[in-house]
Amino acid sequence: MKNFEVKTKISFGENALSRLKSLATDRVFIVADPFVVSSKLIEHIQTPLSSANVKYALFTDVVPDPPVDKVIKGVKSLLADKSEYIIAVGGGSAMDTAKAVRKFATSIDGGYKPKLICIPTTSGTGSEVTSFAVISDGENGKYPLSSEDMLPEEAILDEVLVKSVPATVTADTGMDVITHAIEAYVSINNNEFSGALAEKAVEICGQFLLRSYADCNDTHARRKIHIASCLAGLAFNSASLGLNHGMAHQLGARFHIPHGRANAILLPYIIEYNSDIRSSTKSQKEYRSCVRKYCNVARILGVSNLNEVTTIRAIVSYLQFMMQEMNMPLKVSQIIGINEGEYFSSIEQMAESALKDACTATNPRIPTKEEIIEIYKKIW
Ligand SMILES: NC(=O)c1ccc[n+]([C@@H]2O[C@H](COP(=O)([O-])OP(=O)(O)OC[C@H]3O[C@@H](n4cnc5c(N)ncnc54)[C@H](O)[C@@H]3O)[C@@H](O)[C@H]2O)c1
Ligand SMILES: [Fe+2]
Repeated sequence: MKNFEVKTKISFGENALSRLKSLATDRVFIVADPFVVSSKLIEHIQTPLSSANVKYALFTDVVPDPPVDKVIKGVKSLLADKSEYIIAVGGGSAMDTAKAVRKFATSIDGGYKPKLICIPTTSGTGSEVTSFAVISDGENGKYPLSSEDMLPEEAILDEVLVKSVPATVTADTGMDVITHAIEAYVSINNNEFSGALAEKAVEICGQFLLRSYADCNDTHARRKIHIASCLAGLAFNSASLGLNHGMAHQLGARFHIPHGRANAILLPYIIEYNSDIRSSTKSQKEYRSCVRKYCNVARILGVSNLNEVTTIRAIVSYLQFMMQEMNMPLKVSQIIGINEGEYFSSIEQMAESALKDACTATNPRIPTKEEIIEIYKKIW
């Protein structure tokens, strides 16, 4: 038996943040990215709360790839505060911090059951609707925690918060959305519901990501990508992800490559690996079952080609074309500050961790450690 459930109530569209005027509480605990505070974006949250006389405590000790010690600090602050609602405002790092903080605080104090409202300010992770939180432990790696009770009760998608996202972050997070949609689509846990959500997310990214990158004032494109991010989150919350994320987590932990950028660099190589089709492949009678799925992705992106082999080549080229249009590196070696010797000497350890990463388990092709090593070498 399979289940499909959307537990998170999603408010979206114009003025979605006005939802905050009708909370059934007079006090909230806000977990915010420091940028949200310094840029005054937080006023979009404070104004509706103040108009409803809701007081708040502010926790801003959020850093990219949230490490365990920040989560522990948050747990202490939350347990001292005991608000009925936690509001997370920021990118995946702020939302994941809040999810992990709530999880650990409620396991310490079993009687405390705060509700969580996630308000994304990047369009990428979909963390506002997933039961995952990715926590890092220094150079030891990144760990996707997964637990049903980490699912936020509510998500608010308001494009007013993503206008300020700079082009580089729009590119990174946008490629994260495409990776979520494609990995969920070919995952061994895919189903008709997750598939429908993933297809829509791919379609929106194909239509609007380059527009959203090119012009931060293109509100229509930014709203669409914000919704695509959430759709892809719903898709992978049901179907899970794959080797792409399993390997990207290690690149993020060890070399601090932004999550979406690490995924984007890997994606063309993972598609080649999963489909077992690369530049030298000749047309065959039979293909791996994920090839049909990738061909659907190509159709949605408008890059279907003569046959399966040329279609897989076309998706790979198209994804790299999108990356180039957004001035993204296609290889790790193009990222300034990563030492070649250090990279190659880390590969073995990264491959071991990627093999154990929870995301890798649902990849359509079961990788060996040697194959993962080969892919890490290819992306240099
Ligand atoms: N929980 C999940 O399901 C899930 C899924 C994918 C990734 N993740 C995790 O999420 C994290 C990445 O999240 P992310 O890609 O959103 O990045 P992020 O939250 O780390 O933010 C990236 C940068 O953008 C800035 N920023 C955020 N909002 C902004 C805005 N409106 N305007 C300008 N700048 C803004 C932040 O200050 C930061 O410098 C990683 O730790 C990744 O592993 C979690
Ligand atoms: Fe991701």
